[in-house]
Amino acid sequence: MVVLLAGGAGYIGSHTAVELINAGHEVVIVDDYSNSCPESIKRVEEITGKSIASYEADVKDKAALRKIFAENDIDCVIHFAGLKAVGESTRLPAKYYRNNIDTTLSLIECMKEAGVTKIVFSSSATVYGDQKPPYVETMPKGECSNPYGWTKSMMEQILTDCAKADPELTVVLLRYFNPIGAHSSGKIGEDPQGIPNNLMPYVSQVAAGVREQLTIFGGDYPTPDGTCRRDYIHVVDLALGHIKAVEKILKDNICDAYNLGTGKGYSVLELVNTFSKVNNVDVNYKIVERRPGDIDACYADTSYALKELNFKTTKTIEEMCKDAYNFILKNK
Ligand code: NAD
Ligand code: WQD
Repeated sequence: MVVLLAGGAGYIGSHTAVELINAGHEVVIVDDYSNSCPESIKRVEEITGKSIASYEADVKDKAALRKIFAENDIDCVIHFAGLKAVGESTRLPAKYYRNNIDTTLSLIECMKEAGVTKIVFSSSATVYGDQKPPYVETMPKGECSNPYGWTKSMMEQILTDCAKADPELTVVLLRYFNPIGAHSSGKIGEDPQGIPNNLMPYVSQVAAGVREQLTIFGGDYPTPDGTCRRDYIHVVDLALGHIKAVEKILKDNICDAYNLGTGKGYSVLELVNTFSKVNNVDVNYKIVERRPGDIDACYADTSYALKELNFKTTKTIEEMCKDAYNFILKNK
C-alpha cells in the first residue's frame, strides 16, 4: 500500500513511517515542519534504508494536497498533522481550531476528489473527558478540559459524519493514551521545541542535565502515592498499532474508534523512579500544586483493539524509560 502520512515528520509519524516501511508499505510524507524538521525524515531513511517522497506543505492547503494526490498513487491517509500543546490551546484556541479542523477538512475533500477512501486519524484519550477509567470505546465522549481536546472530539465527529454520508469512506479513529519512548536506534524520538509540556521529555531533559528540576504537578490525588496515573505506551508499539489499523481498513469498510494503550496505569512517581533505576541516573524533582485540567487517573480498556485489530503492546515501562534516555543522550 502507498500511505500518505500527513504530519509524518513528527514524533509519532516518523516512528509509524519506519514500521510501515518495515512491513513492506510505501510512504509519502507531507509536513509543514511547524513542530518538526526534515532531518527526522532523513533519519527514517537511514533506519530503513529506503528513500521517502516528501513534501513541505501546509495540509490546510488544498492546492498542495491536490498536487500530492496527483503525483502519487495513494491508497490510504494517516492524519497526524495537528497542533498538540494543551496549554497553548487554552491561550490560542482559534489557532488550534483553525489548524486542526481545517487540515482534516482539506484532507477529506481532496481525498474525495482523488478517489481515496481510507483514513486513519490520530485521536486521543482526551475525548473521554473525566470519567472513571478504564476507558472503553463504548463510553460516550466526555467534556474536554481544553480546546486541543475539543478539536480531537470535533474531528472524530466530522469524520464520522463524512463516513455516514459517503458509504465508501472508511475511517479508523485511534485514541492514543500517553505515547513515550523512542526508536531503539536513538535516531528518532520526541524532540519538543522549548520547555516540554509532557512528562517524559521533561524527565529526560532533567536527567540529561538540560534542565535543573522536574516539577511534579500534585501529590494529593486519590491514588496510592498521591500522583496522577497514566497509561504510557511505547511509541513503537503505538506505531505498530497503525499497521494494524491499515490492515483493518484494507479489508473492512468501517468507521470505528480503537484505544491504543497498554491498559496499565503508572503514577508520575513510579515513572520517575523507574527512569532513575533503569538508567542509573538521578532525576531531581519537587512536588508542587496540581496543574489545572489534570485528571487523577487515565488508562485504557484494551480488549476491543485486541479483538478487532489484534493489537497488543509488548514493550515495558522499563524499555520506554531506557529508549527515551538513549534518544536524549544521542541528540542533546
Ligand atoms: P508532532 O507535533 O511531533 O507531529 C505533528 C506533525 O504535524 C508535526 O511534524 C508538525 O510539523 C505537523 N503539522 C502540524 N500542523 C500542520 C499543518 N497544518 N500542515 C502540515 N503539517 C502540520 O506530534 P505527535 O506527538 O507526533 O502527534 C501526532 C498526532 O497525534 C497529533 O495530531 C496529536 O494531536 C496526536 N496525539 C498525540 C499525542 C501525544 O501525546 N504525542 C497523544 C494523543 C494524540
Ligand atoms: C502526564 C502526567 C501531569 C509534566 C497530555 C494531553 C493528552 C495527550 C497526551 C496529546 C500528568 C504530570 C507532566 C510535568 C508533571 N496529548 N506532569 N510534570 O496530561 O496525561 O496528556 O498528553 O496530544 O491529550 O492532555 O500528559 O505528559 O502532560 O502529563 O508532573 O512537567 O505527568 O500532571 O499527571 P497528559 P503529560
